[in-house]
Amino acid sequence: MGNLIAEALSIGWVALAILAGLLVYFQMSISDPAAKKRAVFKTFIGIVATLLLFVAIANYKNNFYGENRLLPVSLVMITVTTFIMALYFTNLSALLKIGGMMFFVAAFLSGYGNWLPQVEGGFPPVEEKKTWDSMTPQQLADEGEKIIFGGVGKNKEQGAIGKGQCPLCHAFHAGMLGERAPNLLGLPTRKERLEDPKYSKGDPSKRIYSIKEAFPGSGTAETVQEYIAESHSCPSCYVVEGYGVKGTNDKESPMPAIHKPPISLSLPELAAVDTWMYLREGMDAPSFEEIVKSYEKFIPEGDRPKQEEEKAGAATSLMADGSEPVDQIFAKAQCVSCHTIPGIPGAMGTIGPKLEEGTTASQRIKDPTYKGTAKSPTEYIMESIVDPSAFVVKPFPDNTMPKVFGQKLSAGALKKIVDYLSQVKTGAPPPKI
Ligand code: HEC
Ligand code: HEC
Repeated sequence: MGNLIAEALSIGWVALAILAGLLVYFQMSISDPAAKKRAVFKTFIGIVATLLLFVAIANYKNNFYGENRLLPVSLVMITVTTFIMALYFTNLSALLKIGGMMFFVAAFLSGYGNWLPQVEGGFPPVEEKKTWDSMTPQQLADEGEKIIFGGVGKNKEQGAIGKGQCPLCHAFHAGMLGERAPNLLGLPTRKERLEDPKYSKGDPSKRIYSIKEAFPGSGTAETVQEYIAESHSCPSCYVVEGYGVKGTNDKESPMPAIHKPPISLSLPELAAVDTWMYLREGMDAPSFEEIVKSYEKFIPEGDRPKQEEEKAGAATSLMADGSEPVDQIFAKAQCVSCHTIPGIPGAMGTIGPKLEEGTTASQRIKDPTYKGTAKSPTEYIMESIVDPSAFVVKPFPDNTMPKVFGQKLSAGALKKIVDYLSQVKTGAPPPKI
């Protein structure tokens, strides 16, 4: 309300000043004390009424383009003002009353026109379909957070994971050690990678890595954004020291190229992921177009996943999307027909070993014939599911367990399975579902 009066004054102060001046001048010419008293009162009413009028105009002006439900309020105020003025300025009374009537009718009509439909629910809100390139950076970042963690605001939740699957390997916050992959905090300022002597900028022939270029002629990263794009589309192009696949001397990265199956992020989705990485550190992100362009440098046209197709395909080909309880996931993925799993109804298969990973997983890693890359029981379980031949449990034959679960189960479903299995211990009651 204070704002409105200020605005009203800014619209009408000249008029108000002139009016007040005229009225004061008019009173000075009156000599009869009674008449003078009435005149002072009139002056006061006149000024209040004029102020009200300007408040009404300011209100009208402020709301004209927005919520025009307030329009009748202004008109009613103007009506009241005119009638008050008509009462005191008897010589102008007829004119003011006619004006007042007109405002009243206008108020009624606009009230009728604006209020009725709103009371009845109004028009259904038009659903706005956001296209990637019309999003604000914050909207893009929100999409990115959904892709990485499965929802907006979930980045600090333990175990939150989205279709990008990054948290399976990466930590994102200070104080969290990445045992499987580097912590991604500070990624947008990681210029030092480009300055690493192992990273032979611009001269692919000098690079020591197994994959020299994302594709012939694709060039190599020259800016931090290009480094990020390259890390995502060609993880082995530069392997962070100590994180390479065991035995490759850091020449091969265990990270999957995230524009390829099973993750298959499209270029706009990758841009959303990157935008989140910048914004969450309080930095400005490069524009959507710039980020997409940085990926185009590394991902040839034919390798770029198409958003819609990929979505439709994923929905129909997934065995479980991770929203189900874990026993249903085991059933849908047919684990139950080959494995006995304590605590899971109907899981009594004998084609594969009984799954008591809380006890067995750590023994497998210590087995001298173990050649996989897992360093912890949960990693071993994940590896057994997505890459069953990495270690073949004796006396079972190799190549019996399907090798499709990495593609056919969502990241969320895999995580639920791993969580459950890691809690199953020999001789202990099974974990709760
Ligand atoms: C299977 C595990 C795994 C997954 C899943 C994974 N990464 Fe990685 N990532 C790694 C490893 C290991 C490295 C270090 C080796 C290298 O440089 O490639 C790495 C490196 C990176 C780097 C370079 C970091 C640096 O410090 O230079 C970026 C950026 C990155 N990952 C982003 C992502 C994003 C984004 C996702 C999800 C869309 C993701 N990663 C998913 C394992 C993974
Ligand atoms: C067609 C039968 C079959 C199906 C279906 C199957 N497995 Fe297996 N699984 C096996 C066999 C056989 C082995 C042992 C040989 C090996 O290690 O590859 C095995 C091994 C494993 C191991 C390693 C066990 C250990 O103690 O080290 C895990 C974990 C596992 N399977 C989990 C699963 C999960 C989870 C599913 C469902 C998503 C599943 N399996 C579906 C046959 C199957």
